[in-house]
Parts: sequence; C-alpha cells; structure tokens
Amino acid sequence: MVEHIRLGVNVDHVATLRNARGGIHPDPVEAARLAAKAGADGITAHLREDRRHIRDADMRALKDVGLPLNFEMAATDEMLAIASGILPHACCLVPEKRQELTTEGGLAVHAGMNHLRPYVSRLQDQGIRVSLFVDPDVKEVEAARMVGADIVELHAGPYTKATGADRQHELERIRKAAAAALRLGLECHAGHGLNFETVEAVAAIPNVVELNIGHFIIGEAIFQGLDPVIRQMRALMDAGRRSAR
Ligand code: PXP
Repeated sequence: MVEHIRLGVNVDHVATLRNARGGIHPDPVEAARLAAKAGADGITAHLREDRRHIRDADMRALKDVGLPLNFEMAATDEMLAIASGILPHACCLVPEKRQELTTEGGLAVHAGMNHLRPYVSRLQDQGIRVSLFVDPDVKEVEAARMVGADIVELHAGPYTKATGADRQHELERIRKAAAAALRLGLECHAGHGLNFETVEAVAAIPNVVELNIGHFIIGEAIFQGLDPVIRQMRALMDAGRRSAR
C-alpha cells in the first residue's frame, strides 16, 4: 500500500465565482498557491469547451504554481493542441456535454476505444501521463488498459450521492474497480463529489493513490477558509489510510 494518498485540489469553482462578475477576483491561480501551502499534492483544473470556469490563461498560469498539474479535458483536437502547448504533468480525459452542470458520468471507454486511443498516445508521446475518468466498472478499467492509459480515475459520484446500504454497494464497486486497476498495472485515482463525510472510506482503499476534490473544498472554504478546509481534508484522508493498515 502507498502510505501517502495524494490530494489534488480542483480550483474550477474559484473561476466560476470570478466569472460571475467578469473580473479577476477570486483568482484560481492564487487559490492553487494557497492549496500548495496547505498541503495539496497537486492541482486539477478542467478547461471546458465553453470556458465556463477555467480559461486558457488560467491553465497556463496553473502550470507554474509548482505542483503537478492535472489538466482535465475532453478528447478533442482543440484540447489536445492546448495541452501540447502547456505540457501538464497529467491529462485526465473526461466526457463533456455542453448542457451538463458538471461531468455526469465516466467516459465510455469500451465503446469509444478507437476515438480515445490516438489521444492517449499523442499525449504520452509528449511525456504527459494520461488518466481516463471512468465509472467504477471492471470492464471500463480493462478498456482503459487496452487503450494504453497510465491511470484510471474512478467516478466517486454515485457513491457520494447514495445513502445507507446503497452507499456500501457503490463503495464496493469502487473497491472492485480499484482492484482491477492494480491487477492490470494501472495507477488508480478517484474523485467527484467527495466531502468530509465521504472521503475517509475511499482513502481507505489501499491502491487508490490520489483523490481529486473541488466543489466541496471551494464551497466550504467560504465558511472556514481554504487553508483549514484543505488541512482537514488531508487529515481525514490520512485517517482513512491509517485505518486500512
Ligand atoms: N475528477 C474529475 C474527473 C472531475 O471531472 C471532477 C469535477 O470537475 C472532479 C474530480 C472533482 O469533483 P468535485 O468538484 O465534485 O469534487
């Protein structure tokens, strides 16, 4: 088991707030600098086709914050060209629908292998690690391996939304998909919808090595401040990890 589970802080919604008034405040790059001081291990940002939150200039500036940058993007030629100009540490390929409020489901990797394969290899040719955001489904993890991905990020959304026995069932799906990733030699991340209540159980899954968390951290920062929220998230992740030993 990797002892230290990495926390990637997603700063998209700092940009959402900034864009609501069309100015320069609050600045997602400043949030990323504060996240670095509070103990984040990486910064995640999603450059969407409609630029509803993060913009091209943000992504370029985030690269210089000094933490590994995880560039979330749709598998399109436009995004491939932008990522190739920025050369982030990693790219996480996500499905993107114009009308959705947020990423709604994992990539259809199994059904879309021919489309995805060239994006994976062209990013990797430039030294960028490639992650695929997938539902916690063993078949999709296997398909991610078949298209040559380095990493799978398991969609934690259904787990975070479920209650009672359904939540346990969804957690079990994440565990099984994470076990499949380990078996296939893929690095395993998880994210979407995680908060103080739901993070520990996912952090306790030994072969999940990174969690990417945004909306809750940024929202809770309004009440508590970014630094204490990131430190508390970090502490809960560490507690989850310790419980797995
Ligand atoms: N991982 C991926 C692939 C995502 O698309 C998102 C949302 O942008 C996250 C993690 C973070 O999700 P949340 O903002 O709900 O914490």
